[in-house]
Amino acid sequence: MDVTVAPPLGMLAELTHRCPLHCPYCSNPVELTARADELTTGQWLDVLDAARDIGVLQVHLSGGEPLARPDLPELVTRAADLGCYVNLVTSGLGLTEERLADLTDRGLAHVQLSVQGPDAERANRIAGARAHEHKLAAAALVKEAGLPLTVNVVLHKANHDVGALIALAERMGADRLELANTQYYGWALRNRAALMPTPEQLAAAEPVVRAQARRLRGTMEIVYVVADYYEKYPKPCMYGWGARQLTVAPNGDVLPCPAASAIATLPVDNVKTRPLRDIWYDSESFNAYRGEEWMREPCRTCDRRSVDFGGCRCQAFQLLGDAAATDPVCSRSPDRGVVDLLLRSPGEQEEFVMRGPVAAR
Ligand code: SF4
Ligand code: FES
Repeated sequence: MDVTVAPPLGMLAELTHRCPLHCPYCSNPVELTARADELTTGQWLDVLDAARDIGVLQVHLSGGEPLARPDLPELVTRAADLGCYVNLVTSGLGLTEERLADLTDRGLAHVQLSVQGPDAERANRIAGARAHEHKLAAAALVKEAGLPLTVNVVLHKANHDVGALIALAERMGADRLELANTQYYGWALRNRAALMPTPEQLAAAEPVVRAQARRLRGTMEIVYVVADYYEKYPKPCMYGWGARQLTVAPNGDVLPCPAASAIATLPVDNVKTRPLRDIWYDSESFNAYRGEEWMREPCRTCDRRSVDFGGCRCQAFQLLGDAAATDPVCSRSPDRGVVDLLLRSPGEQEEFVMRGPVAAR
């Protein structure tokens, strides 16, 4: 074990890829885990024990839709009994007063609710389902239960109306609103041309977010995640590879970032065949881009390398076919032209390709 590697702080537990929604911006992989290949309850309980054992303090129960797992209450109990802060990342569909009361009794501490648009017409079109009313009802239940609520919106060309989204989140009683411009991973990459916001939309959004964040200070925190293609420097993705968080996919694959299965060259370990501790500290996948040793120029000698860690490995692989390259979003990257070309000619695509259902096998 490398003594310089810190323990993980958080674990994203993707309990299932099954989901009642069909969002075109879905960042889950193109090939979803079939229901029959999901970890069993016993295996997930072992994962939670092992995660706490290596230091995990925050457990994000996610998917897909985690409410699709009948054993969710049992998993919440175990995570909470282990002393973890338990967050449910949900579409809200399937959340009833009884289920929420039960989960809260068992130790659920926080709910993160996705919203697809500022009104039912737009939101339901993007979700590919009549979901919006359920989300408003789910938010009311969370507030009645006295739990903190984060509303999460993935922004793109068809919903880039931040003023209306902020007003909606306020009406929902959100304590925190995340407005995150789409990252083009997994299924979202198929829809990039239809999703990419226009420069005018982005320019209009920034002052609105700034003014509203000021107005709502102390009431509702607003987190705005910029559209990185338009930026000069890349995002500090995952705050560094293998630095703070690990993801366990529905089939037990352990990933240094939720999108890392897109890196075809990355060997992936599974909780069924290797202890989580070994994977975190000693696996090829978690050590591949940890720290700075793997960096090449221009990152290797760059004054920003401890600020952004060379950007995003998944993006470097998806755009350049080389996960060890400097994120091409970076203006210092010799490949920045790839991103500039995409901005100039995003391609012709009006209609979304909607996310399909998970296969039984
Ligand atoms: Fe970040 Fe590398 Fe660009 Fe420097 S060259 S700003 S470290 S991505
Ligand atoms: Fe995987 Fe950035 S999304 S490293």
